[in-house]
Amino acid sequence: MTRGDGQHYGTGVLPEHRGHGLGRWMEAETIRLVRERHPDLGGLLADTADGNTYMRGINDALGYVPTHRTVHYRFDL
Ligand SMILES: CC(C)(COP(=O)(O)OP(=O)(O)OC[C@H]1O[C@@H](n2cnc3c(N)ncnc32)[C@H](O)[C@@H]1OP(=O)(O)O)[C@@H](O)C(=O)NCCC(=O)NCCS
Repeated sequence: MTRGDGQHYGTGVLPEHRGHGLGRWMEAETIRLVRERHPDLGGLLADTADGNTYMRGINDALGYVPTHRTVHYRFDL
């Protein structure tokens, strides 16, 4: 029996350390740990902005597939 999904959130790498595989490694290691510690979990959700091509590239490479779309509007009041 699966118990719903987990939320994968808040990956960040300091600017001076980007482009060396740390983001991809952290994302992959998080998925591995979640599977090990929560084997009954149905899946993992990750919200990534369309324009965040580096993070989208990491998620695509690790097997994330688009399931939903959220549109955020910002108004200056
Ligand atoms: C997104 C982020 C976590 C990526 O971290 P990272 O350690 O640079 O990631 P990686 O080194 O694994 O790079 C992933 C891909 O993006 C490319 N990339 C990342 N930063 C790059 C840069 N500054 N210039 C060119 N390419 C870059 C890498 O070459 C790699 O491409 P590849 O998959 O074709 O090899 C980092 O840019 C970041 O902290 N951004 C701000 C916070 C953020 O957006 N978090 C995600 C919220 S959903």
